[in-house]
Amino acid sequence: MSKIVVVGSINADLNTRVARHPQPGETLMATGGGITAGGKGANQAVAAARLGAEVAMVGAVGRDAYAAPATELLRDAGVDLAAVAETDETTGLAVITVDAAGENTILVVAGANGTVDAAAVEKARDLIAGAEVVLLQGEIPAEGFAAAVAIAREAGVRVVVNLAPVIEVDRDALLAADPLMANEHEAGLILDQLGAGIDSEDPGRLAAALLEVGFPSVLLTLGAAGAMVADAEGTTAIPTPRIEAVDTVGAGDAFAGAYVARLVAGDTIRDAARYAARVGAFAATGRGAQASYPRVGDALPEV
Ligand code: RIB
Repeated sequence: MSKIVVVGSINADLNTRVARHPQPGETLMATGGGITAGGKGANQAVAAARLGAEVAMVGAVGRDAYAAPATELLRDAGVDLAAVAETDETTGLAVITVDAAGENTILVVAGANGTVDAAAVEKARDLIAGAEVVLLQGEIPAEGFAAAVAIAREAGVRVVVNLAPVIEVDRDALLAADPLMANEHEAGLILDQLGAGIDSEDPGRLAAALLEVGFPSVLLTLGAAGAMVADAEGTTAIPTPRIEAVDTVGAGDAFAGAYVARLVAGDTIRDAARYAARVGAFAATGRGAQASYPRVGDALPEV
């Protein structure tokens, strides 16, 4: 049985590079055009597996030309793909644009990821119930999300949620997240969704509000400012190494996957976050999502 089960998206990433992002109605010339493996679920699965964790993926792809490149690095990392269905929908596609300053925009066409509904998740019940941690994001339907949480809770499996992008999900299912992982923007949207919005982007206040609304633990990712862990024991700032970022696409997913890999390896939530910050920094120094993730033995940047 896999220790980590990721119930989430698998995408083919279409990568473009531009000097600056286009204005509405504007056509710009770009470079790139390559297809690489992506999807927040798959990225997190690969990040954890490359660091030595046993990982299985519950998801879906299409019967099309994008399915192979989208799953190539999952296979290479040894992720169990037995619960990845082949559907008549197209493989999920993300159109990624990175400008000269490294800022990115991402458009996601859900395609087959949209079929990861309650019925699809139910087929993976035994896999999910046998895990130590179930890791979820926001790129599958809310019913699939809630079904995965319900199975995990029934079986006493820890639920870790990185609700990116922030979609409307069942309140109780969301509050099962231990921890909830989010950046400041996502944290604000999640608080709004739970009817507990605050007029502040201050990480300490956001973390306090998320605990107050009912999350047992919270992990806020703060980009170059590191991260913040908050739970009943208090709030801890997590530093991140200073690096020359080349491409931050998927760096947050590297953080999430590494974090869960260290949790199942026995780290505390604070030690796991310290390690994950270094993995996220490593990922930002390489191009693309999964291809930039470290393997066991790679030298991670120091804080
Ligand atoms: O987080 C980065 C990911 O977001 C990309 O790989 C893309 O597929 C989208 O899901």
